[in-house]
Amino acid sequence: MKLITSINEMQQFSTDAKRRGKSIVFVPTMGHLHGGHASLLKKGRGLGDMLVMSIFVNPIQFGPKEDYASYPRDLKGDMALVEAHKVDVVFNPTAEEMYPEGFQTYIDIERLSKPLCGISRPWHFRGVATVVAKLFNIVKPDTALFGEKDLQQLQVIKRMVHDLNMEVNVIGAPIVREIDGLAMSSRNVYLNKEQRKAALCLYNAVVKGKDMFHNGIKDTRVILKEVRNIVESEPLAVIDYIQICNINTLEGLEKITEKALLALAVTIGKTRLIDNTVLGNEQREQYIF
Ligand code: PAF
Repeated sequence: MKLITSINEMQQFSTDAKRRGKSIVFVPTMGHLHGGHASLLKKGRGLGDMLVMSIFVNPIQFGPKEDYASYPRDLKGDMALVEAHKVDVVFNPTAEEMYPEGFQTYIDIERLSKPLCGISRPWHFRGVATVVAKLFNIVKPDTALFGEKDLQQLQVIKRMVHDLNMEVNVIGAPIVREIDGLAMSSRNVYLNKEQRKAALCLYNAVVKGKDMFHNGIKDTRVILKEVRNIVESEPLAVIDYIQICNINTLEGLEKITEKALLALAVTIGKTRLIDNTVLGNEQREQYIF
């Protein structure tokens, strides 16, 4: 495994690999790796010749009052997972390397960035799209993998790749859950014992929504009322949003007539957690525990 911190060196590596006819599979991350990242690496290993992972906590996708400074970082611990999955290169630049003095170019995905997480985090997807575009230009992947826990992020990136004619095949991978159902996230380490227990309300809400849909309820107001009740009955939970929307446009729905996304963001203590499920497509419902 090679650790690269310079953009020039990473670009050179990828150019050389391409010249030798090797395809590049890319897993972008912010580190503090967990089972969700492991599943992306596992899937990615079989999709091409060279497996590249980036570990970069991207400052421009955090708001001024968010946890950029305290976001969990554990490069040493991450390396064990990286070695186990036979990653060829870890790209780990500094913020100064990625955003030198004078940086002023951003990518704005106009509509998909606005609903759901975009309401309380209006800067977020601009930061995500910009860093992912930069990483694509640096790593030059043929294929890139993203987790479906951040389904809005996945849709934003797919839109960007399509709209800007980027030659990258973007693939989503199912949510990976702890044994009790909590979606894996680097931010789960913030939760104390009581909060960790409370955080299960997100999974319980998702399961409730799925069950109601499977029982033939298609009116989103009816489903959302029950789902909200579950989260609201948890005293430590503060709802950011709970929404059922069109999976492609992310616009809110009154009736579920085709594939829909049930998505929620809930703060437990100071930790904002997200979760989702796709209603109407059983194949994508393959949760990994
Ligand atoms: O999902 C993440 O870890 C980040 O948002 C990403 C895609 C690596 C961009 O910083």
